[in-house]
Amino acid sequence: MKFFIDTANLAQIKEANELGILDGVTTNPSLMAKEGIKGEAAVMQHYKTICDMVDGDISAEVISTDFDGMIAEGKKLVQIHKNIVVKVPMIKDGIKAIKWFTDNGIRTNCTLVFSAGQAILAAKAGASYVSPFIGRIDDSGWDGMELIHQLRQIYSIQGYKTEILAASIRNPNHIIKCAEAGADVCTCPLDSILGLLKHPLTDIGLAKFLEDAKKFA
Ligand code: E4P
Repeated sequence: MKFFIDTANLAQIKEANELGILDGVTTNPSLMAKEGIKGEAAVMQHYKTICDMVDGDISAEVISTDFDGMIAEGKKLVQIHKNIVVKVPMIKDGIKAIKWFTDNGIRTNCTLVFSAGQAILAAKAGASYVSPFIGRIDDSGWDGMELIHQLRQIYSIQGYKTEILAASIRNPNHIIKCAEAGADVCTCPLDSILGLLKHPLTDIGLAKFLEDAKKFA
């Protein structure tokens, strides 16, 4: 399973990248706004900075909701760097845009996916990635991980090439469960990635080893 970080924060991207396990980055308009980035030039520059930092796929989301607007934005975004993947919302014009991008050799990430039906449409349109939002499904009282299992089964049976990119990750256990369910990619906040490191027995064991090491140092 590939690891992406889900943020537009450069310090966090740097920290995750330095672990040596990072395969890409996903952003969205909320994450960009959180970093205080304003205006098209600043947005483009921010994506360029991320692309220069991480050698992997970088999802950059369109903000238009009509076909022509999404195509125009996507064409500009892919000029930034060869690793840019155009993130497109799961709406009717979004599906048309994904199909157009696919036919024109531009890779896409279909975002805001909450059902198997939506994920089938994204795959049929040729999306490179489909992003089911696990945490938001859990937040609304449903089981996000069920959707990952369902998509894995459907995509495998149907031979769809679209990669399942589990998104809206809330904790380290989500990452483990996504790996178990066969997600191709998990995009995570830095805290959830670092949470995978933690185990109290590791801390206790290391403290003891270091204590004993003093005996022969
Ligand atoms: C996916 O690409 C989204 O950016 C993200 O995972 C949404 O997560 P949230 O539900 O924590 O906002």
